[in-house]
Amino acid sequence: MRPVEIAPNVFEVGVRDWNIRDFHGYSTPAGTTYNAFLIRGETNVLIDTVKAEFTEELLSNIRAIMDPKDIDIVVSNHTEMDHSGGLPRIMAAVGQDKPLYCSKMGAKNLARHFRENWNLKEVSSSEEISIGSGRTLMFIETRMLHWPDSMFTYLKEDGILFSSDAFGQHYAGSEIFDDQMDMSELLFHAKKYYANILLPFSALIAKLLKAVGEMGLKLNMVCPDHGILWRKDPGVILDAYDRWSRQETQNKAVVIYDTMWHSTEMMADAIVSGLVEAGVEQVRPISVRRSHRSDIMTEIMDAKVVMVGSPTLNNQIFPALMDVLTYMKGLKPQGKIAAAFGSYGWSGEAVKLLNAELAGMGFELPEEGLRIQYVPERDQLTLCHGLGMRMGLRAQGREV
Ligand SMILES: Cc1cc2nc3c(=O)[nH]c(=O)nc-3n(C[C@H](O)[C@H](O)[C@H](O)COP(=O)(O)O)c2cc1C
Ligand SMILES: [Fe+2]
Ligand SMILES: [Fe+2]
Repeated sequence: MRPVEIAPNVFEVGVRDWNIRDFHGYSTPAGTTYNAFLIRGETNVLIDTVKAEFTEELLSNIRAIMDPKDIDIVVSNHTEMDHSGGLPRIMAAVGQDKPLYCSKMGAKNLARHFRENWNLKEVSSSEEISIGSGRTLMFIETRMLHWPDSMFTYLKEDGILFSSDAFGQHYAGSEIFDDQMDMSELLFHAKKYYANILLPFSALIAKLLKAVGEMGLKLNMVCPDHGILWRKDPGVILDAYDRWSRQETQNKAVVIYDTMWHSTEMMADAIVSGLVEAGVEQVRPISVRRSHRSDIMTEIMDAKVVMVGSPTLNNQIFPALMDVLTYMKGLKPQGKIAAAFGSYGWSGEAVKLLNAELAGMGFELPEEGLRIQYVPERDQLTLCHGLGMRMGLRAQGREV
């Protein structure tokens, strides 16, 4: 796509990766974008680059506006290769001696990614530089959001925040701005991004939002490095981040399970009916082998109840379920109540092992879990229904 002038003399020059479907284990059915920004003025500034294989396209977008040699400074907000992969060729085109601004950790991480002698300018938080034409750039360190090197760049007079991976979404369409898109679809992609990338850093995000609020920055536009730019009402995504970072849960239950011969699945069905009867508004049964872990995580993020079912396989939890649990553990969801269930044949270890996994994630386990040998009978399914009911009532703070 051609570059777009998003504000006077500020251009989005990044690229669309329409066909990517797996972003380090995150399913991206709508592709993604690698956004990069060019500010034209007395000092020409390039903020971030793109994944290495798209560098030629970035260069051609830049050339549509200016000769890359006329870029005076480059800013790297984040060292991860989806934004830095293009740096070696970009610096070669811009000029190897041009200043490359980054955070302190950015300097370290750029050195560990690229063996180049760049003219690195380390900046600290709140540091400002004038770029002429009445414009100032301010840098805001956002350590561990989501890498040690991450920072924001703020174009002060215009109120534009270049927010790197924060507030982004893996979405590639023809749209550029929030007002060109259906808001619930946009927020769904943003939520999935948060659940899969930013969730473990929620406490830091809450702190950062507070600090940015106290700085009183005017935010006319929030421009992440992935997906749609927020210009109509950046408050929408800031409010969503405020809610998500507090890990607010809803009256919602997720029932994830795997099954070989449908017995654990029958248990899951009965648990679901119990949850519904208890008044849980959103009940999501998910077979883990038919769903992607990153979609499961999006559902789990705002659920109060997590029910996990596995048959026993060779004295273990079913591997497809362990995949999801390992992934979930790393993303550190908080404030959940959980219970385990599963069918077994002779040794039946899965429920006990699931309980240990769930406890290890800091989930509250008010029930010891339910094991049923082979195929459940009608009254055993009633027990499953009862488990679902009790968990559903607890989720709503109602009496069991
Ligand atoms: C989403 C994400 C999370 C990461 N989490 C960690 C982490 O917790 N600890 C760590 O040491 N490195 C972490 N890394 C950094 C990677 O391990 C690092 O980039 C590594 O060089 C990637 O190796 P690869 O090129 O074989 O994928 C993370 C990277 C990404 C993209
Ligand atoms: Fe990143
Ligand atoms: Fe990224």
